Amino acid sequence: MSAPSTNFEGWVAHSATDPLKFTTFAPKPFTDTDVEIKITHCGICGSDIHTLRSGWGPTDYPCVVGHEIIGIATRVGSGVSTLASSPASRVIRVGDRVGVGPQSMSCLKPNCEACSTKRENYCPRITGTYASRYADGNKSYGGYATYWRGPAHFVFKIPDALPSAEAAPLLCAGITVFSPLVQYGVGPGKSVGIIGIGGLGHLGIQFAKALNCDRVVAISRTSSKRDDAIKGLGADAFIATDEDKTWSKKNSGSLDVILCTVSSPKMPLAQYLRLLKLNGTFVQLGAPEDPLPPIRAGALIMKGVKITGSNIGSPDEIRQMLELAAEKKVLPWIQKRPMKEVNQALVDMHEGKARYRYVLTNDVDGNKARL
Ligand SMILES: NC(=O)c1ccc[n+]([C@@H]2O[C@H](COP(=O)([O-])OP(=O)(O)OC[C@H]3O[C@@H](n4cnc5c(N)ncnc54)[C@H](OP(=O)(O)O)[C@@H]3O)[C@@H](O)[C@H]2O)c1
Ligand SMILES: [Zn+2]
Ligand SMILES: [Zn+2]
Repeated sequence: MSAPSTNFEGWVAHSATDPLKFTTFAPKPFTDTDVEIKITHCGICGSDIHTLRSGWGPTDYPCVVGHEIIGIATRVGSGVSTLASSPASRVIRVGDRVGVGPQSMSCLKPNCEACSTKRENYCPRITGTYASRYADGNKSYGGYATYWRGPAHFVFKIPDALPSAEAAPLLCAGITVFSPLVQYGVGPGKSVGIIGIGGLGHLGIQFAKALNCDRVVAISRTSSKRDDAIKGLGADAFIATDEDKTWSKKNSGSLDVILCTVSSPKMPLAQYLRLLKLNGTFVQLGAPEDPLPPIRAGALIMKGVKITGSNIGSPDEIRQMLELAAEKKVLPWIQKRPMKEVNQALVDMHEGKARYRYVLTNDVDGNKARL
């Protein structure tokens, strides 16, 4: 496999409104701790849409989104096999099937509270996989492209048991639900609610089951996803918040932990909190473009509940998550879309049609059996 010349090709956004255009862009210069990947698959995450339309503030165009990247390592820097920052990354070789999630770098400094405790995902100098900058000022470009290039510290070998297309959404949606489930002690004896049954949410149900928690409740706006959630994904119960006026009262005090993946601020937050048990924890994962709804102090005071948030997951957690997914067959439900149809796939994603993740595919030669 030949490495591309200085420029890569991909689906580039030039503004918040124009469709993506297939054209060239200049990746960061290759360094001896980098890996270059020929991209075979890239999932479409809700964050791609927020970023493309400058929903979280002005995006640094030109921009190539996509941070659920799977492909084949085509170039491995000479320093990777002895990489000081990550012994686990030293095994990456040319020809390996590898993945990259939403984070491409952090400061990795010993005096950084986050990096020195292996929580790189909370580093204040985090480099996102797209629309972000490396410490040297170079822009980061994501996976709606034919190649990706970046630091080996944030590149992961994909276990053989995981097919490439299904592995892609695990790199963002999967780790974003896995990390808080583990952090907040979800397992035997615990009841968990998953709000929003989309890319993140449908994996949240499956990972909560894989972690052997007692009861998983899927919480959605309507009953249209009920059968998928209960018969397919393994949820024990289902709540349709737009269809049952008494849902909050009826299920009050029933959940230890809630993961909220809702991407819009139009959510009944106070009613969600009512579902928590005494001292329960509500973890916001969805990142709406506008502030969350106001709540009365009593919603927190009367049951001593906690509201928190969680950002993707650390490299160590990503490796644990991939292992568990391979062992317990936690696989996202995906619909493959040729990457050249990315603009239509984005419209369909925005309209909520994905069941439950679109994965863009590049035409690839070689390695067919494992793709
Ligand atoms: N914290 C992190 O590290 C992290 C990582 C990745 C993504 N995110 C964020 O998480 C959110 C979800 O991402 P995703 O990829 O899972 O998106 P998604 O597939 O579109 O799922 C979002 C779900 O939210 C629910 N929802 C409720 N109200 C909605 C509304 N008014 N409009 C649209 N959806 C609504 C829907 O579930 P129902 O139909 O079941 O109601 C929908 O399926 C995004 O904001 C994304 O940026 C955060
Ligand atoms: Zn994402
Ligand atoms: Zn740091």
